[in-house]
Amino acid sequence: MSKMDTIRHFQVKPVIYYGVGAINAITEHEFKKVCIVTDEGMVKFGLLKMITDVLEEKGVNKIHVFSDVEPDPSTDIVERGLVSILHDKPDALIALGGGSAIDTAKAIIYYCNNLMHMFVDDKFITKPYFIALPTTAGTGSEVTEYAVITDKASQRKLALVSDLMMPDAAILDPKLIESLPPKATAATGMDVLTHAIESYISLNNNPFSRSYASKATELVFKSLKESYVNGHNLDAKASMQIASCMAGIAFNSAGLGINHSFAHAIGAKWHLPHGLANQVVLPYVIAYNSTDERAAYLYARLLHSIGLAPEIGKTATETLIRMIVQLSTDMDMALCLKDLGIDEGEYLESKESLVEKAMIDTCTATNPIKPTREDMLRILDSIYYGK
Ligand SMILES: NC(=O)c1ccc[n+]([C@@H]2O[C@H](COP(=O)([O-])OP(=O)(O)OC[C@H]3O[C@@H](n4cnc5c(N)ncnc54)[C@H](O)[C@@H]3O)[C@@H](O)[C@H]2O)c1
Ligand SMILES: [Zn+2]
Repeated sequence: MSKMDTIRHFQVKPVIYYGVGAINAITEHEFKKVCIVTDEGMVKFGLLKMITDVLEEKGVNKIHVFSDVEPDPSTDIVERGLVSILHDKPDALIALGGGSAIDTAKAIIYYCNNLMHMFVDDKFITKPYFIALPTTAGTGSEVTEYAVITDKASQRKLALVSDLMMPDAAILDPKLIESLPPKATAATGMDVLTHAIESYISLNNNPFSRSYASKATELVFKSLKESYVNGHNLDAKASMQIASCMAGIAFNSAGLGINHSFAHAIGAKWHLPHGLANQVVLPYVIAYNSTDERAAYLYARLLHSIGLAPEIGKTATETLIRMIVQLSTDMDMALCLKDLGIDEGEYLESKESLVEKAMIDTCTATNPIKPTREDMLRILDSIYYGK
């Protein structure tokens, strides 16, 4: 049966505003009451004020700020935000921050809708206009239907999926990521690269997702190091924002793989930033997946699509891994969990449970190889020891 015998779909949403000054697009619609979901960092770095100034200038004076979001948001934070929005009933919800703030806002919308659904007929439920303003170039959450929320009790990251959570507008203003410290620029940028590479080889990839993933990969190799070294280079920052957004569009359609399954388990266990957890895993998962013929072919095709050929004496996969290791080293990032300072005894004690969590992670389903428990334990050892 030809692939074209199966009907599939690729949806492009939301409207995306980009470029310096794009934040002014928050006033494209007339709003009376606005709720902003954000974190303390946004207050500290003056980013919240940039947004409230634009709103106030346009005459929006009913602005409620919920700034309690923490990195890797938990169900408790979402509950608190939910109470706040049910009380305020805003006509617009603005998420300002990295993936944590955007995912919190998404989860608030999700639970709010589910809650109202229990008491009110669907036709009477109105969703606030949802605008996402990412302040990291990483998660691509501004264009995905996913929200990742941490369940503190089980130390697990849970993925909520619903088109209810897709923003109506995404605003990519490079000025919003200028204050991101170099370490966070590096980590979030490697998250973008992981989204692009994993979605490119995913079992659910398609011509649309592959073209977004390929362009995102090209932009990361072109702009991430410069964005890390020179935080005020707005061209490099803008390029990374577009890469992040494109990688988000790609994985929203194609899904991810076991790189993210490991990163979710490791990140939740040792409180590692999400991008850092992905970066430390990436070379080992690529090496494992390249044992599959189709995946090895796709790595070669990805390399070719960004205008590169395998280095002399190396396969495309080896070249790709070498480029990732070089980029990580250039940004002073560790190449294994041991070098990140994670205690060996603690690692050995938790490795079985980490593999268990990674095996049941939703991202594992679209990995090109269905891994066995033994495969996963072996890969995890490589991630820890770096060999
Ligand atoms: N929904 C999705 O599709 C998706 C995809 C990947 C990851 N995630 C989730 O997103 C979260 C990670 O998001 P993240 O990597 O963007 O980081 P983050 O939102 O957790 O932010 C990390 C830190 O950086 C600070 N920060 C953010 N922007 C800043 C700026 N411009 N200037 C100064 N400081 C700034 C924040 O205040 C915070 O302290 C994780 O929970 C992860 O699981 C979601
Ligand atoms: Zn990610």
